[in-house]
Formats: sequence, C-alpha cells, structure tokens
Amino acid sequence: MMKVLMVCLGNICRSPLAEGILRKKAAEQNLNIEVDSCGTAGYHIGEPADIRSINKAEEHGFDINDLRGRQLENSDLDEFDHILVMDKSNYQNTIALANESNQQKVKLILSYTNSNHIKEVPDPYYGGADGFENVYQLLDNAIDQFIEQEYHG
Ligand code: 4NP
Repeated sequence: MMKVLMVCLGNICRSPLAEGILRKKAAEQNLNIEVDSCGTAGYHIGEPADIRSINKAEEHGFDINDLRGRQLENSDLDEFDHILVMDKSNYQNTIALANESNQQKVKLILSYTNSNHIKEVPDPYYGGADGFENVYQLLDNAIDQFIEQEYHG
C-alpha cells in the first residue's frame, strides 16, 4: 500500500481535486494506493471543497462531495510515503515540519511533468472558472506521470 498526501494552502480548491483525480485513476487501474489531502493553513477545517472544484470534478467524472478540509500536521510527514505540494509556498510550509529522514518525501507535484517552465499549480481561489480547468489539466497530467514513475517505476 502506497500512501499519498496532496497538499495546498486551503485544502478546498487544488488538493481536493488532486485527491479525487488520483482516487479515480487508482480505482480504474487497480492500484494499491491510499490518498488523502490537507492544507498548510487552517482556514477551512471541516469544510467541503470549493463548489468550483466540486463542479470541475463532476464534469470530469468523479465525486469529491465527501471530502472535508483538514490542516497538515507533523505526523503526516511520517505517515505518508509521498507528499505532493502544489506550489513553492506549500513546499516551504511543509518542509518546515520535516526532519532529515522524511524531507525527501516532499515534492512539487509538477516536478513529475516534463514542462521546464511551469513548476507550480496556480492558486485558482480568486480567479475565474478557467483557472479550475487549468488546475485540473495540470494535475491530471502530473498524476499520470507520478503513477508511471513512482508506482510502476
Ligand atoms: P487552495 O486555494 O489552497 O487550492 O485550497 C485556496 C483556498 C482558500 C484560500 C486560499 C487558497 N483562502 O485564503 O481562504
């Protein structure tokens, strides 16, 4: 069993989508992967995902209605095998909780893609609907590469 944690700032926009995408792929491809998500901040603890992420998931054939926001905690660094963060700010906040033995688990999720210039999944919270489609496309591609490299690799 591989345990994967998706991390963003609020745990309502990007990381719930990332969790849903990996859950869907794991189910479809029969992969022994457990997925969770969280935020580095505590603003949205206990809340459902942003309605725009819920709708985006539905549009692409999966359901994230049951997800609830939670905040990253120290024990996550030990519990999970791979901790995939959306942007550099998430990286800094996550690595701050790490120690020598678990810091190599923390990676920018787009480090799994071939793109040389886009390294971060942009925060879509204050933007329009196209921002959520962009997030979905970036995550879908990166998660395919993650499965190929870390699960099958
Ligand atoms: P997320 O987006 O990190 O992708 O969940 C955000 C959600 C909420 C806030 C910031 C980013 N906020 O400031 O409340």
